[in-house]
Amino acid sequence: MNKVKHIAIIMDGNGRWAELQGKKRVKGHEVGATVVKDITTYCSNHKDIERLTLYAFSTENWKRPKLEVEFLMKLMQRYLKNELPIYLENNVRFEPIGDLSAFSKSLQDTIHDAKEKTANCDGLIQSLALNYGAKNEIVRAVNRLKNQPDEITEEMLSNELDCKDEVDLLIRTGGDCRISNYLLWQLAYAELSFTKVLWPDFTTEHLEKIIEDFTKVERRFGGLK
Ligand code: IPE
Ligand code: IPE
Ligand code: MG
Repeated sequence: MNKVKHIAIIMDGNGRWAELQGKKRVKGHEVGATVVKDITTYCSNHKDIERLTLYAFSTENWKRPKLEVEFLMKLMQRYLKNELPIYLENNVRFEPIGDLSAFSKSLQDTIHDAKEKTANCDGLIQSLALNYGAKNEIVRAVNRLKNQPDEITEEMLSNELDCKDEVDLLIRTGGDCRISNYLLWQLAYAELSFTKVLWPDFTTEHLEKIIEDFTKVERRFGGLK
């Protein structure tokens, strides 16, 4: 049986969920944020899961209408402020990944504050990928390494990335089967699970079933059984 240590999720389908109910797209983001809290709490109580990395805002999402981007910025800030007690209660360490420098000073402060206040939590590590793009992450890492004298190894590059842990299981909700510039390096040997369920409808029962299927997969890593 495989143990799932690191789960990454592309939380997709918020906008379609809202539109299906005749609501504005941003309503889907709001409900989606409550699902983030539920799934994080579930993972923090799971015996095998050590890390949960959630795609919240990509380097490409700036292309969206200004009002939606602004709403998402406010939502991230509100979420991090309001949910901090839940992180502390569940011993969850918050470790953002992505290029945070593009955010307002106030949002950056909130992100750093959540990181600092949970720094001593030693249960689940929950990462929100914020202004995250895997290509951007790799390029930033390579630029930091380029002036050191040795030839760059896989280990060196891996240690320089925002997210240093290989992913065991990637889940994408919302029905699309693509990676959308997420964790390209860390997904090298991940099991991929695509579900049509839209993120605001995604429950711990859905997650439990996906984990159960994952535990039964034969992972060979290029070797033989
Ligand atoms: C994912 O849901 C959340 C973000 C990208 C911020 P979407 O907003 O992409 O929802 P759909 O895919 O348009 O339904
Ligand atoms: C991926 O979803 C990014 C996040 C979930 C934050 P998108 O909705 O932005 O991806 P595409 O545009 O369908 O590839
Ligand atoms: Mg989408």
